[in-house]
Amino acid sequence: GNYVVAIDGPAASGKSTLARKLASRLGLLMVNSGAIYRAITWEIVRENINPEDSDAVISALEKIDIETGRNGGVSTIRINGVQPGDELRSEVVNSNVSAVSAIPKVREKVVQLLRDHLEHSSLVMEGRDIATIVFPDTPYKIYITAAEHVRAARRHKVGEVDSVKRRDAADSGRKTAPLKVADGAEILDTSDHTIESGVDAAIEILKR
Ligand code: CDP
Repeated sequence: GNYVVAIDGPAASGKSTLARKLASRLGLLMVNSGAIYRAITWEIVRENINPEDSDAVISALEKIDIETGRNGGVSTIRINGVQPGDELRSEVVNSNVSAVSAIPKVREKVVQLLRDHLEHSSLVMEGRDIATIVFPDTPYKIYITAAEHVRAARRHKVGEVDSVKRRDAADSGRKTAPLKVADGAEILDTSDHTIESGVDAAIEILKR
């Protein structure tokens, strides 16, 4: 049957790059769960809805059409027929995604969409709650971390405007599905790894 490699961790830990490379080495579909939370946030902002107003977000969500697909080895997302592209990493999305993703009804919907991916293929899926909530039964769980200064430098290099500290505090402190190390997860600290050696370390963990 199909299986999932669950990759969780805080912002700018190197999780996305590692997950993407790992998926391509293993020949698995790569699913970035954060992209779905970001796409919903982007649409909410585009519709001039206050991301902090959970009732308004929930009623908008009922009318939003979310379609996932794949392009080569990577999953894609369309929201009301549009692929948001680079806008997913814009400042307005960075600063509002934690509020939107803290809403339980939003999470319910996204978790269902994420689980549906497994019907079509085996996956590497990255996010905050993949090993704790989305696929708690998978034997393959890796929690990625990196030292705070390393993470800040990485985000800085990409040139994004993003308050990583604030986002992490919100993601770890929320009531529903807070970011934490899942039972049975192995911790991989990427501070002193290059991209390739980080992928090698992840593959070693999966072999155990
Ligand atoms: O930019 P970075 O890779 O750190 O984050 P992301 O994976 O794109 O996720 C963006 C935001 O979506 C996070 O800060 C969380 O608020 C939310 N998220 C979540 O709540 N649960 C997930 N499984 C993935 C993302």
